[in-house]
Amino acid sequence: MSTLPSSPPSRGKVSIHTLQAKKVRREPITFLTAYDYPTAVALDRSGIDGILVGDSLGMVVLGYENTLPVTMQEMLHHCRAVARGVSHAHLVGDLPFMSYQASTADALRNAGSLLQKGGMDAVKLEGGRERAAAIKAIVSAGIPVMGHLGLTPQSVHQLGGWKVQARSTEAAKILIEDSLFLEDAGCYSIVVEAVPAEVAQLITQRLSIPVIGIGAGIGCDGQVLVAHDLLGLFDRFTPSFVKKYANLFAEMQRAFQEYISDVRERRFPAPEHATSMDPQSLRDLIREINLPDRQMEPEDKVRYH
Ligand code: KIV
Repeated sequence: MSTLPSSPPSRGKVSIHTLQAKKVRREPITFLTAYDYPTAVALDRSGIDGILVGDSLGMVVLGYENTLPVTMQEMLHHCRAVARGVSHAHLVGDLPFMSYQASTADALRNAGSLLQKGGMDAVKLEGGRERAAAIKAIVSAGIPVMGHLGLTPQSVHQLGGWKVQARSTEAAKILIEDSLFLEDAGCYSIVVEAVPAEVAQLITQRLSIPVIGIGAGIGCDGQVLVAHDLLGLFDRFTPSFVKKYANLFAEMQRAFQEYISDVRERRFPAPEHATSMDPQSLRDLIREINLPDRQMEPEDKVRYH
């Protein structure tokens, strides 16, 4: 009896349970940021586990100095674009600055919007034990919450800049305690950013939920980077913990310069980039619009091919 060739296992939607199972199996979890449809499609087709629509979009896409000006409206706009491009990856939307800090009611309403209007599967917020009430309220509404500790960009002024956190014994102890608070409050995962690798590894060993590192060494359950950093698309700076896999900013500039010189030198558009009218229709048209009945000049022929 002949057997049908087996097709590759179809990839389902990555859920918080998929991520949890990966932690248990010690399989590295992959996350990257995306803010638009084409990047989301490319990431989803590449087999990424999770996509974070981070408020880093304020810096790398919208050109703000930091993430503080980002609004819920901006987040929703980008979340929707990403959600339209994704079938498999787990989608996390960032709660922007002041969308969850002032009250639990704000936190709940805005978290709900990221799922209901933005098409996300989960939300992320920054901070430690002081966020426990907001996290509990959001989780009790059935919304998965990812925490974010260490270098929390929404507190950049309080932290005194983009600095590695939890270097001292005391600061590391507080950070580890905070991670336990987040787990107890109901987070299904946390991001730890810019902390010593040893501290991130200790947190990863202590917590039963997946710990996703950025600038936090190899000992985490998974890694996340800002896609624009990895692609070399952000012109202002590249954090030292980033591995650049491409230099798309330079490539983009090269393509733009080539286009500009092609247009200036009349190399673009070439015949294959334009359509022509059939000669009789063109003669009729010229007659209709009362142009002087003349032979087309060589210059016109170039234009009309
Ligand atoms: O906004 C973001 O992209 C993030 C990542 C850096 C984790 O929070």
